[in-house]
Amino acid sequence: MESKEYAERWEIDAKAYAKAGVYSQFAKKLGSFRNIIEIGCGTGESTLALLNEGHFVVAIDKNKDCVLMTRKKLLKNGFKEKEDFILITGDFFDRSVLNDLAKMKMDLIICWNPSSFLHKDEFENMFNLLKVNGYSEELLYSNFSSSYCEFLQFLVLRFAKSYSLSASLVDRTLIDSEIFKYFGELSKSFELKLIDTDSFFLEKLSSGGIQLSLKGKKPTNETMKGYLVFGLFSN
Ligand SMILES: C[S@@+](CC[C@H](N)C(=O)[O-])C[C@H]1O[C@@H](n2cnc3c(N)ncnc32)[C@H](O)[C@@H]1O
Repeated sequence: MESKEYAERWEIDAKAYAKAGVYSQFAKKLGSFRNIIEIGCGTGESTLALLNEGHFVVAIDKNKDCVLMTRKKLLKNGFKEKEDFILITGDFFDRSVLNDLAKMKMDLIICWNPSSFLHKDEFENMFNLLKVNGYSEELLYSNFSSSYCEFLQFLVLRFAKSYSLSASLVDRTLIDSEIFKYFGELSKSFELKLIDTDSFFLEKLSSGGIQLSLKGKKPTNETMKGYLVFGLFSN
């Protein structure tokens, strides 16, 4: 899928989540963190909710069309670039991006609703990176997207640990207790305290936009019931 089509399709789901109140409910839980790095801002519905709560946000997405849609949305809502937010087209797996983010004085890093947007020519490198990081070929062939999203979450938590930031994740699931358990395991593995959790029930996890992977499950755009689950981790 090309970057523009991805952005247009994700916007359908993001709008539905925003209308249901998901982003504002979760953004309200981040009150004490002024400066936030957002990994994978998509089309900016999550970023907008963060700005509406008074946060300063550095948002990054590897999809240039998502970044364009985010900028348009934030400016249209009266927020100012540099004063209220910074937008970066870049890949969190790119070392130079990591180094730039590490130099900023930020309080919290978030990764909400990860998904694997990859160009065809990026796939092989990412496949190999996941393989050397312990994902079996069998798993990657059967469910690449879920492994990619998990690895991205690991990287976000490792960044939080290395640079003494707090971190927030949002994941999708059919049963929220599974993700609460998973967040508990992440907390132990990365030696970060899990200080808050929340979940939001939706009659439709997908509104027909992009195919989304559920934790440990193959991507689908079936309109099934499920939860978006929030976790807040601190050093
Ligand atoms: C499903 S969207 C979620 C957007 C937003 N966080 C939300 O909840 O509405 C996931 C976004 O993460 C971006 N993404 C995936 N991997 C990334 C990476 N390595 N670096 C930066 N962005 C990434 C994708 O391009 C996509 O726009």
